[in-house]
Amino acid sequence: MGTLFKQGTIVTAGDQFVGDILVEGEIITLIGKDISPEGHEVIDCAGKYVMPGGIDVHTHLELPFGATVSNDDFETGHKAAAFGGTTSHIDFAIQPIGGTLADGLANWQKRARLAQIDYGFHMTITDLNEDVMAEIPGMLDEGITTLKVFTAYKGVYQLDDGSLFRIMNVAKDLGMLVMVHAENGDVEAYLKPRLIAEGKTDPVYHAASRPPEIEGEATNRMVTMAGMIDCPLYVVHMTCEQSIEALRRGRKLGYPVMGETCVQYFFLTVDEHLGAPGFEGAKYVASPPIRSKHDHGILWQAVQDGTLQHISTDHCSFWYEGGIGPCEDWRAEHGNADWADFERLDPSYRRPGKELGLGDFSKMPNGMPGIEDRMLMIWEFGVNGGRLSPSKFVELMCTNPAKMFGMYPKKGTLAVGSDADILVWDPTVEHVISADTHHMKVDYNCYEGTRITGKPILVYQRGNKLVDGDEWLGKIGGGQYIRRKPNAEIL
Ligand code: URP
Ligand code: ZN
Ligand code: ZN
Repeated sequence: MGTLFKQGTIVTAGDQFVGDILVEGEIITLIGKDISPEGHEVIDCAGKYVMPGGIDVHTHLELPFGATVSNDDFETGHKAAAFGGTTSHIDFAIQPIGGTLADGLANWQKRARLAQIDYGFHMTITDLNEDVMAEIPGMLDEGITTLKVFTAYKGVYQLDDGSLFRIMNVAKDLGMLVMVHAENGDVEAYLKPRLIAEGKTDPVYHAASRPPEIEGEATNRMVTMAGMIDCPLYVVHMTCEQSIEALRRGRKLGYPVMGETCVQYFFLTVDEHLGAPGFEGAKYVASPPIRSKHDHGILWQAVQDGTLQHISTDHCSFWYEGGIGPCEDWRAEHGNADWADFERLDPSYRRPGKELGLGDFSKMPNGMPGIEDRMLMIWEFGVNGGRLSPSKFVELMCTNPAKMFGMYPKKGTLAVGSDADILVWDPTVEHVISADTHHMKVDYNCYEGTRITGKPILVYQRGNKLVDGDEWLGKIGGGQYIRRKPNAEIL
């Protein structure tokens, strides 16, 4: 017996039509008109959109940052993702300082034992040496086709230009894609202590320490180096006119360079959010910083004209009011155990969060939650807002990421033979986004009180129902690792 999605408006990146989809086992076996319901469970999809499950290629589950670790793990983050229509994501495994790529991979494989949706890994290189160079080809055997680098976070993750160029050369030879967080870390490292010394310690000064020019400069540098040797490059979390112009210039020159922005960069501003009274702005401290309404317009234009290919989240959730309850003694007694273990014993305990930056923005963990909000917000302000067609929405949220990251057509589309990752999306259902009802493990929502119309009412992963209205049906261990293919498409 299969599951027959009947009479829905099927949306792919290239098409929109009323039809039926038959799922048998974990894959789509038939798409057509009037498929016989005999012997199948029938899901009446009349009046609904039927779309591929969303893909988010930029998330940080349990990311160590400064004196803490981001809240959502593969259990809570995955549940939240699925409620928002995302059924696959790629998280960043990180080479520990002084460690190997294998160490980083092992750390993230351990986290992924809690997986409830499908996931992959990028490999972040934080320290390039001969041993690491020798490890890179082996990543392909692990199904990892993307190498992440930073031009920012000096003294922690930042690599020098020589290392960056060396990584680009090996990536090109191996058919891998280089991903970059592009901000000039040296300039930021100069600006930040001066602001603090001048008493400019509030969250809003985080933006002054990372102005748009340093994002534009680093993007241009990376695009130029990639263009010199034809290395595929993907610039993550782009926020502003300066970096978009650098990417657009490279693409016009025919360089294999692509980019994403994240949901928050369309909606939040320095003036209203980061500069909110009191400590409220802490909720919005992320790198690069949120920008201006002018930049929001630049980003909508860039997704519409194809300069940007994907909208991700950079999901990295920290408590606004964290550090509540005794834990450090317990952790010490238990061999420096994970905060998460203590939180399971005492759910009222909260690991440290944004309050670490009270009186000094430079001590604040950087990042914002959004894995659950991404598709809801972009549907509301993109599709309902008249900026994107439903097909363009699917292209940005599902199909392009699958193509660029070596998962297509297993993921990212509705086709015979594809994984049955399916959303039944009700375009009429109304919902108010709120921390009171979201599933992310965090005590605020960046879009609190926003009214939206349209959300997934049924979410399937490989034919298994994960979400039915408000009900969660996923299970720990239900998510599968996605082995990705090299030489992916350049879009
Ligand atoms: O502020 C951010 N973006 N935190 C997560 C780490 C990163 O730089 O992507
Ligand atoms: Zn980043
Ligand atoms: Zn990130």
